[in-house]
Amino acid sequence: MKLELSDEQQMIQAMAREFAETAIRPIAAEIDREARFPHETVKRMGELGLMGIAIPEQWGGSGSDTVAYVVALEEIAKACASHAVIMSVNNSLYGDPVLKYGTDAQRERFLRPVASGHAQGCFALTEPQAGSDATNQHTLAVRDGDHYVLNGRKLFITTGREASFALVFGQTDRTKGARGISAFVVEKGAPGFTVSKTEDKLGIRASDTAELVFDDCRVPAANRLGEEGMGFKIAMAALDGGRIGIAAQALGIAAGAYERSLAYARERKSFGVPIGEHQMVQWMLADMATAIEGARLLTLRAAALKDAGKPFGTAAAMAKLFAAETAMKVTTDAIQVHGGYGFIKEYEVERYFRDAKITQIYEGTSQIQKLVIAREVLGR
Ligand code: CAA
Repeated sequence: MKLELSDEQQMIQAMAREFAETAIRPIAAEIDREARFPHETVKRMGELGLMGIAIPEQWGGSGSDTVAYVVALEEIAKACASHAVIMSVNNSLYGDPVLKYGTDAQRERFLRPVASGHAQGCFALTEPQAGSDATNQHTLAVRDGDHYVLNGRKLFITTGREASFALVFGQTDRTKGARGISAFVVEKGAPGFTVSKTEDKLGIRASDTAELVFDDCRVPAANRLGEEGMGFKIAMAALDGGRIGIAAQALGIAAGAYERSLAYARERKSFGVPIGEHQMVQWMLADMATAIEGARLLTLRAAALKDAGKPFGTAAAMAKLFAAETAMKVTTDAIQVHGGYGFIKEYEVERYFRDAKITQIYEGTSQIQKLVIAREVLGR
């Protein structure tokens, strides 16, 4: 069994690490404090090929693979979890399904600008009453000639305000439940499509989380992705891939908090010695290092399965579950290692702690990941 990254994957990892350290890390605390979307560095991520990393070059992407995506995303998240979610949604939840289910004309129009980093895409599935229960869609898409008319609201949409393209899910046939849901690409500026508010959040504060409103919004039938009624499968398949991205984000958050804890344990003294000499602290660091390595292996495994064209949904759910729980535990312990200094903003671990929480919630809560895993292990 080979566990080494290829030369190309190592190169992409090193490039992402350098960019994260020099361009993102210096602004991470400030954009968190100001809840400011980092336009400049997101643009540069596009120029570096990070916004469409596994999308073929033919469609504006970098033509690399999911493993490269994961190792790059971990590096970005080590510096700033907000940048990581922006990158993850663009690649996995928007780019991937448009690549997989779009026609060539749709890829040209809706994927190329996003994969090349000139525009961003978002994924609009969640509604006020449809979070974990994602099939409970109230947004309606009614066919009217060569258009559909969309009415409804989408909540907690990452990059919702900034995105030029939204992949929107709605009911085209209410009587069919999940099989009556369809997917559409809606362009920014479409009449009847507005962004009504941006959320003020606990963590990932520099990412944009918005509510989208569709009020008699006319969308050309040519913007429908896949057949009518295929929308829920498209959403679930996109989320299978998205969960690998969020696992990598959670891994990066944990690794970032761990690196700071390690440095602090070497430098801070108590009872006459660096605190890393105390067994109580050593145990916390050992637990952190072990859990992070486990999360990394699970995440890489899910990515490698996806690259090999094998089923990866359960592996992605396991990776996301374990990495998110690891991120929460490691960032909690990172504050503990820092003591009082961990509770204030100066040492950054409090930001990692706040950012970790969302990884247990979005793209399927930890409880939903367990449901997905349990269904598989029970053969249901
Ligand atoms: N791939 C393809 N199709 C799938 C699938 C998958 N992974 N999982 C389910 N489906 C299909 C099923 O086969 C079924 O199709 P048929 O009727 O043709 O057989 C259909 O979808 C319905 O599936 P279920 O009966 O399993 O649906 P369910 O209601 O019991 O539950 C669920 C499914 C797993 C709970 C699902 O609703 C789920 O994952 N919920 C969590 C939603 C979620 O992750 N939301 C995240 C929002 S996006 C976000 O957070 C992004 C962000 O901004 C960062």
